[in-house]
Amino acid sequence: MKANHTLGIIRATAITMGMIVSATAGAQTFEPPELTPLEQLGKHVFFDTDLSKPKTQGCVSCHDPAAGWTFPDSAINEGQVVAPGAIWHRSGGIKTPGNSYASFAPVFQNCEHVFFERRGNPNGGRYCGGMFWDGRAEGYGKVDGTAIGIEGVVSQTITPNDLPGPVRDDYTQFLGPLADQALNPFPNSVEQNIDPKIVCKRVSKSGYAHLYQEAFDEKINCKTKPKSNPAYLTSFKRLAVALSAYQASADVNSFTSKRDVALYKELACLAGGFDGDFGDFYDSDFCNQAKPNGVAWGEFPLLGLSALENQGHDLFYGIETATNQPEEIFDEAGVGTGVFSTTNAGCHRCHNDNPQVDNGTEPFQTYNDHAYHNIGIPFNREIPGVVPGQINGSIAHVSVRADNPARPVRAGFFKNPTARNVAKGEGDITKAYGHNGYFKSLKGIVHFYSTRDLKPDCDADLRINPLTGEEMPGKNLGIEHPTEEEAVLAGCWPEAEFTTGASPVGFSFANVGRLNLTVLQEDALVAYLKALADQYTPSAP
Ligand code: HEC
Ligand code: HEC
Repeated sequence: MKANHTLGIIRATAITMGMIVSATAGAQTFEPPELTPLEQLGKHVFFDTDLSKPKTQGCVSCHDPAAGWTFPDSAINEGQVVAPGAIWHRSGGIKTPGNSYASFAPVFQNCEHVFFERRGNPNGGRYCGGMFWDGRAEGYGKVDGTAIGIEGVVSQTITPNDLPGPVRDDYTQFLGPLADQALNPFPNSVEQNIDPKIVCKRVSKSGYAHLYQEAFDEKINCKTKPKSNPAYLTSFKRLAVALSAYQASADVNSFTSKRDVALYKELACLAGGFDGDFGDFYDSDFCNQAKPNGVAWGEFPLLGLSALENQGHDLFYGIETATNQPEEIFDEAGVGTGVFSTTNAGCHRCHNDNPQVDNGTEPFQTYNDHAYHNIGIPFNREIPGVVPGQINGSIAHVSVRADNPARPVRAGFFKNPTARNVAKGEGDITKAYGHNGYFKSLKGIVHFYSTRDLKPDCDADLRINPLTGEEMPGKNLGIEHPTEEEAVLAGCWPEAEFTTGASPVGFSFANVGRLNLTVLQEDALVAYLKALADQYTPSAP
């Protein structure tokens, strides 16, 4: 299975489909997967909005499955971006990321061995793994942190010793970044704002307390003794392990996007319907068709995707096909510019389990290298209380490069989010994209990838078009830190908040920011992203 890719110590979670799919006349129904008592406990805790002070907020309030496991309120996403906490006027400084498929992240580590050969020398310091936009929930409870050789502060962690003996071997797989992350939102005053002791007490009095006993073969214990390591704290850590197990389950990572189903159906044909993995998807009428131009089952274009979605796939992976050819770009007056669009949007260099190797035909592709990159997003002035340069990515957490301690990590490198579920809920609500939510639509962020370096600077600086060498005088908007809407209206882009690795005139990772796509190509990429949204949506337990 592809998702458990090359990183030696990535968790070997067996994601099984576990979901019977009935396909009647094109409509797909996904049954909820069966969950273990540990996963059920995690699900109850995830959805429990009594576990906050005041009793208004659970994990689900910010990570809403229907909104792609992120914040579901259009007005907030369009404005301040950052989610209000249980105490409504309090909020953090960064956008709520989706938490689906996060379970595939390895512990925070030097990933030189994985990336170096294929990608040369990324500026970020070659780190990958961990949780949070800056990776500060490293997940060292499961491995010997010292063996990893990372300097700096190590986050609070959960170790096998926190688990009861009889289940220890079984549950150690759920330790790591996701479990460590789950220790944070409850006590955080800008989130659930509740003491771990009270979390323990409320769970012990809840209707699902029996699940704790089933999962751990012990009653939940909320005593404050012994003082050095109080029982309630151990129980709290085990609830975090349950949250981790739930977030690693098929309820959260269902692999049921339109692209997945289109692929499974073809893989079932390939196996003649006898393949255990995709047998549920076998449809003899479907398999009796021939794929055009002798393309094999399981290879793109997939029959279950539209022409636009297939084109988007080809662009995402830089695969040149009949539908993915360079096209001349026309300016606003409709005059050909003599410059051609790319056929390689390069998304596969980062949103890919195995960068530069996987081509999108992998059944359980997670669309994420879990590494840190700077794509040059402008500062978002609409986040209250945050000043430019303040929210700076992995440098907040590690200061020197793991592979070369003499060199500092650069500011502005944020953990790569998966491309799965970014589209989920868009259309029903406005979502915000990027760590600071600068972009308010997929179309908007794709347009940025395409034109970041090709439009004039919104301010007075000169910008050189890297494709034509042409000098573009600044627009001089006179707006400090224009929003996406203001920039698009004026036909310019502001300078990146962190220019290292993203500077329009300096180094740019491959062709990020200068894809020069046609409108149709941008639409094709958006269509492909939409085909990566899970069709299954879990409901509250
Ligand atoms: C008030 C809104 C809010 C609540 C409540 C909340 N989160 Fe989050 N979550 C966030 C924000 C904001 C971040 C990013 C913080 C950062 O990177 O510094 C985040 C990050 C995460 C991540 C990291 C994802 C990644 O890929 O790095 C996970 C996992 C997660 N939350 C799970 C949970 C769980 C489990 C709970 C309940 C115990 C929870 N969250 C409660 C807002 C929230
Ligand atoms: C150099 C690696 C890299 C490449 C290449 C890349 N991305 Fe990203 N992408 C990232 C990182 C890192 C972020 C988060 C950056 C941030 O918030 O500062 C991101 C953010 C996104 C987001 C927003 C996700 C969210 O949850 O807010 C979308 C959508 C996206 N990328 C799509 C694409 C598409 C489509 C392409 C190809 C045109 C692409 N990316 C190419 C690394 C990359």
